[in-house]
Amino acid sequence: MIKKLNKYLEKFKELPTPFYFYDLDVLRNTLDIIKDESEKYGIKIHYAIKANSNPRILQLISLYGFGADCVSMNEIERAISTGFKPKEVFFAGVGKADKEIVSALDAQIGCFNCESVAEIEVINSIAKNHASVADIALRINPNIEAHTHKYITTGIEESKFGINIQDLKDVVSLISKLENIKLKGIHFHVGSQIDRMSVFTELCKKINELQKWFSSQNIKLQIINAGGGLGIDYENPEKMPEFQQYFSLLNKLVDFNNDQELHAEPGRSVVAQCGSLISKVLYIKKGVNTCFVIIDAGMTDLIRPALYQAVHKIENLSSDGKIFRYDIVGPICESSDTFAKDTELNETSRGDIIAIRSAGAYGEVMASRYNLRDLPYSVFSDDI
Ligand code: LLP
Repeated sequence: MIKKLNKYLEKFKELPTPFYFYDLDVLRNTLDIIKDESEKYGIKIHYAIKANSNPRILQLISLYGFGADCVSMNEIERAISTGFKPKEVFFAGVGKADKEIVSALDAQIGCFNCESVAEIEVINSIAKNHASVADIALRINPNIEAHTHKYITTGIEESKFGINIQDLKDVVSLISKLENIKLKGIHFHVGSQIDRMSVFTELCKKINELQKWFSSQNIKLQIINAGGGLGIDYENPEKMPEFQQYFSLLNKLVDFNNDQELHAEPGRSVVAQCGSLISKVLYIKKGVNTCFVIIDAGMTDLIRPALYQAVHKIENLSSDGKIFRYDIVGPICESSDTFAKDTELNETSRGDIIAIRSAGAYGEVMASRYNLRDLPYSVFSDDI
């Protein structure tokens, strides 16, 4: 097997571990493809900042002219300071705090994606005090099973996200009475790491049904936002996500006309494959029936395996020796601090450099200081 990161091995050995390594050529290549494939159909991209909000990554993404999907005031500020246009910044999330709504109005963002009646009322009253009118989209819960991990399933009835379809009539009648709210569109997000295109097909059908309903109420929708969720192949870190298939499906199946905009909010698929968590082997420890590789990165640096039982491909960049089976674990005082169980790795020794692949999304952004550990830092291919 060719390990693509091997060309950086000598450099990695000199740097203190653990750190996130971002291959900006991979990111540029991904962004080129997203731009080409989405522009073919006039689909507008709002990158979901939560997947990776590293300023350097955001500066690169904003150069492509994409908008930003944000879920906190700090994300909005970060997006604007790294080059995203305020009008192309959308504010989502079930729990927008009053001060965040005020700051978002001050920043003149493009749209609030609203998730409840209570929130719409609050935004209306804050906008009134602010002497402005807030453009909003309704995030609708379409009740579609995303067939992904339950913690990243967001569009079924028991999810806290979105407005239920049965409540839409009341919501629309409320909005017609509010003077500081303008309804611009509808928004959906059924989940993340979705690897079945049939889920998006089902979503498109639901979008069309709902559009018909809004038309029947004489409501014109300018924005149709299909959310994010396109999955990546964690087993093959070199593999590009299925952008072509995804955008052509959205274009083919969603009914939209010339005065409407079709939006997508990819996060993971934009940044996952460009990032790896680089770590060093501290110890090899023999268990009863296992052999542990204890590395200096832990669940504080990458929580996805502990939280979602995610499996990231792991490579020993220092060894091309015989293949053995190991449990790869971190130094944190939790048994869930395990990156892989009974996994194949070239024969491993203390000091070897380990790469945990496909970690560019929901990696660095979810790092914590549990055990009072330092936060991981980042290294970019352009700089080394
Ligand atoms: N739009 C909305 C409203 C979202 O909530 C999300 C992600 C996205 C777009 C982007 O979805 P993506 O294209 O990245 O699937 N920490 C978890 C993932 C949480 C996703 C939350 N929402 C993980 O590590 O798998």
